[in-house]
Amino acid sequence: MKALAATGDRTLVRFADAPEPAPAADAAVIQVEAFSVNRGEILAMTGAYGTPTAPGTVMGQDVVGRVVAAAADGSGPAVGTRVVGHADGGGWAERVPVPTSALVELPDAVPATTAAALPLAGLTALRLLRHVEAPADKKALITGASGGVGHYLVELATAAGIAVTAVAAAPERGARLAELGAAKVVHGVAHADGPFDVIFESVGGDVFADALARIAPGGTVLWFGQASLQPIRLSFFDYLTVTPFTLKHFPHWVADTTDAEDLRVLVELTATGRLHPELGRVADWAETAHVLADLNNRRIRGNAVLTITA
Ligand SMILES: NC(=O)c1ccc[n+]([C@@H]2O[C@H](COP(=O)([O-])OP(=O)(O)OC[C@H]3O[C@@H](n4cnc5c(N)ncnc54)[C@H](OP(=O)(O)O)[C@@H]3O)[C@@H](O)[C@H]2O)c1
Repeated sequence: MKALAATGDRTLVRFADAPEPAPAADAAVIQVEAFSVNRGEILAMTGAYGTPTAPGTVMGQDVVGRVVAAAADGSGPAVGTRVVGHADGGGWAERVPVPTSALVELPDAVPATTAAALPLAGLTALRLLRHVEAPADKKALITGASGGVGHYLVELATAAGIAVTAVAAAPERGARLAELGAAKVVHGVAHADGPFDVIFESVGGDVFADALARIAPGGTVLWFGQASLQPIRLSFFDYLTVTPFTLKHFPHWVADTTDAEDLRVLVELTATGRLHPELGRVADWAETAHVLADLNNRRIRGNAVLTITA
């Protein structure tokens, strides 16, 4: 079958022949109609952490399509069911196995391109918010808010009653965030009025310390990324007189819920008009290398989705 394989160089991916999926007993095979790409996949391919992905590897987690082979263990949807899933890699391909614990049926009302934007970014935002106790009337700062996770976080946090200040590099990068509910959209943390009960931080470098300087007494920092690739620098002494705050490290895969349970929530919110995936780019999968470059260079707002025409 046709797939997009990692090249190991700056082109990131190119079309290649890949073997047909060999699913585990608890996985269904999906005929992929649309998938999304995430910054995390670029970071993995370029070796931002650890060894770069081996050339030939097929990346891809967020997929929408139809089941062409049901799971051998009898779990999950039947052949022909339209689904959205969170694959463990291999999704930038015509067919991919997805564990049924990470797969849900997709109602006709939700277009494939919209649903493909949901899994990784949506699960991350949903699970981040579960770390906020008694969210109503809290004030939150969201850095990197113009990105895939950021748009969901702004809308879901606002719906939970949080007054959100969203940081985006420029007006066009933050154009949707006020519509999704942000109380304020600022272009740089320096323009954010604190103090904030919660800080969602995923940019790193100086942004982290600038954001932390705005923490409210007893506040919480949810630390979930380093999009700038720059490590954070902090001096303990800058916070000596601050009432203790909590710093929580957040990996999205540590959760009490399955991906399927949370995908069901995201699909339901989308189908009922309470969640609005921001599709900054939709293109044919032949354009994936260009789209990845644009995502890497902060030229895409929200999520980027690629489609596979039969
Ligand atoms: N912990 C987890 O489980 C988990 C899960 C998913 C994602 N993540 C991480 O969370 C972060 C956001 O993910 P995402 O998929 O939403 O990424 P994304 O769509 O690329 O968004 C990242 C945002 O960061 C902002 N940014 C500020 N300075 C940047 C810089 N120097 N380089 C790149 N971006 C910069 C950009 O906004 P402006 O251009 O407007 O400044 C961009 O929109 C990434 O670091 C990702 O690896 C972590």
